[in-house]
Amino acid sequence: SSVGVCSPVCVEVPSETEAVQGSHMKLLCISCMKREEVSANTVVEWFYKTEGGKDELIYEYRKVYHEFPSRFSGRLQWNGSKDMQDVSITVLNVTLNDSGIYTCNVTREFDFEIHRPLFTSSRLIHLTVVEEAGEDFTSVISEIMMYILLVFLTLWLLIEMVYCYRKVSKAEETVQENATDYLAIPSENKENCAVPVEE
Ligand SMILES: *[C@@H]1O[C@H](CO)[C@@H](O)[C@H](O)[C@H]1NC(C)=O
Ligand SMILES: *[C@@H]1O[C@H](CO)[C@@H](O)[C@H](O)[C@H]1NC(C)=O
Ligand SMILES: *[C@@H]1O[C@H](CO)[C@@H](O)[C@H](O)[C@H]1NC(C)=O
Ligand SMILES: *[C@@H]1O[C@H](CO)[C@@H](O)[C@H](O)[C@H]1NC(C)=O
Repeated sequence: SSVGVCSPVCVEVPSETEAVQGSHMKLLCISCMKREEVSANTVVEWFYKTEGGKDELIYEYRKVYHEFPSRFSGRLQWNGSKDMQDVSITVLNVTLNDSGIYTCNVTREFDFEIHRPLFTSSRLIHLTVVEEAGEDFTSVISEIMMYILLVFLTLWLLIEMVYCYRKVSKAEETVQENATDYLAIPSENKENCAVPVEE
């Protein structure tokens, strides 16, 4: 019962499903072990198929690591853990043709019970290989939205500026009219004020 206590917590995280052409792609497959399975042998099988195609065995661990002849030849590497909870492989130098469905089948069995597996698990990874990194659909959309917003804001600013300019020049006209009225008043007042002095 002390087995699970000291080992790090095992979490069955799903794999990434997008790879960039020319990079190394880790096909993540985690199959957490139950306590009673610790002394069992683990068999790992990796299959590949194209959309609508047939599963082809490309990699296997059965006491030894073995890469089967396939179009992946020389490009598959074990990238799992010693305790056989992480049974991932890495595809080196991914090509566009590596898109497809990868299956990771894990079987745990005791030597004396080979035909009655203790546990099996199966994971599918739908891999898409893209030519270049970045620029997913949502980021492209938000970029377009930003440009539209910028153009709209610029137009709105221009319209507002023209409108304000007209308003200001009209206001200036009225101010000038008022100013002449206003300037006229003190001179009248002056005259009015000057009248009593003269008398
Ligand atoms: C194995 O996976 C790690 C990431 O978990 C990665 O850094 C490393 O390059 C991989 N090994 C190979 C041979 O690709
Ligand atoms: C990756 O593939 C390209 C051609 O597809 C090849 O020129 C290059 O040498 C390969 N690199 C590695 C590390 O295998
Ligand atoms: C990729 O697949 C296409 C057809 O689907 C084929 O013509 C081409 O030769 C393949 N390329 C490689 C590098 O396997
Ligand atoms: C992988 O395991 C699942 C479940 O045990 C099974 O249904 C499936 O046929 C296996 N896949 C292959 C290609 O053997």
